[in-house]
Amino acid sequence: MGERHLLSQASLHDVRALFPLLDKRIHGVPLTFLDNAATTQMALPVLEAMRHFELHERANIHRGVHTLSQRATDAFERARDDLKRFVGAGPEHELVFTSGTTDALNLVAHGLSTAGARRAALAPADEIIASGLEHHANLVPWQQAARRCGATLRILRPDGEGRLHAEDLARLLSARTRVFALTACANATGERPPYERLLALAADAGALTVLDAAQAVSHEVPALQSLACDFMAFSGHKMYGPMGTGALVGRRAALERLEPLRYGGDMVAWVSATEACFADLPARLEGGTPNVAGAVGMAAAAAFIDRTGREVIDSHVRSLRAHAVQGLSAIDGVTVLSPQATASAIVSFVARDVHPHDIGTLLDERGIAVRTGHHCAQPLIDHLGLGPTTRASFAVYNTHDEVERLVAGVAEVLEVLR
Ligand code: ALA
Repeated sequence: MGERHLLSQASLHDVRALFPLLDKRIHGVPLTFLDNAATTQMALPVLEAMRHFELHERANIHRGVHTLSQRATDAFERARDDLKRFVGAGPEHELVFTSGTTDALNLVAHGLSTAGARRAALAPADEIIASGLEHHANLVPWQQAARRCGATLRILRPDGEGRLHAEDLARLLSARTRVFALTACANATGERPPYERLLALAADAGALTVLDAAQAVSHEVPALQSLACDFMAFSGHKMYGPMGTGALVGRRAALERLEPLRYGGDMVAWVSATEACFADLPARLEGGTPNVAGAVGMAAAAAFIDRTGREVIDSHVRSLRAHAVQGLSAIDGVTVLSPQATASAIVSFVARDVHPHDIGTLLDERGIAVRTGHHCAQPLIDHLGLGPTTRASFAVYNTHDEVERLVAGVAEVLEVLR
């Protein structure tokens, strides 16, 4: 990363001013918010965009001939186009709004395993491969999909350090593989798998590929057109946008194969008393009134990221992570998971003889917000065999001083707890 990609002190100050919540005091001390992998804070321009929509354009979309409905529809469709651009989608892609990454991944797993007017895309002899790094949201829907249609779920197991290897995937892939589900960054460890290569391998073997980009989207959004990716899911609330928003973006041909998850208004072309013909994409997968202000907010969050600079954010969070890995590893009895994962904003660690819940509680008393436990990735945590972890995760507004505060805080609470 060159000089031009560094976030200057002045820019960092300006960025922090867009997140007033960061000025809060918790237990009488300044907040150090390091739980960004769970949710980032929301940028003021996002709130402004949503406020503008609610105050000036709010109406239901795609339904009214009246002006306000038209304006709301325009705002919604503009948000869709902006987000497609944000993830590097091409003309072959479409974007479906969802309530988050979990909703998007359920839409795919359900859509491929459920029979509607056509047979389900997945059949009993088929195989699904999910990586062993996945958040439950990219695992449990596949467990259920396999059960529903009698397919077999196989796991691409990481090595003892939590890394995935292309050779292991090559061994698992066969003519039976229909789906390969992978994360762009493991939320529990910060491991960033070589997803470009793994997706390409799976696609070459004829599988549909599913990428959970929730933990990458705020700094490392892959150019979708350059990836062998049929479906990519992400959330608004992990990219400085509103909670309860997300998107599934995918190749049209792949999205066409999904049986809708929600039947009802807005997703139909016509309806008789006994039958319905579904609308074209994206409406076909967006039954019911969507979260229009949320979509507008998500697009405003993408604009904030683009204005700040994707590379600038990426190099900033990477340097915070590297700083934290160095500081935490130097503490007696602390083991950092996936220490080599440089392209990541997440650092997860264990401390000998001390439960992470106790560390998290005492850090909170010092105003430091981290997440502790299995991080909704129990199979990975079990596989690594070190038990639940303490996780700090970084965003564009975090500072190296905050990393110092984390490292000093951990050293101090370990003294207290041992
Ligand atoms: N998926 C979020 C996390 O990793 C909630 O904390």
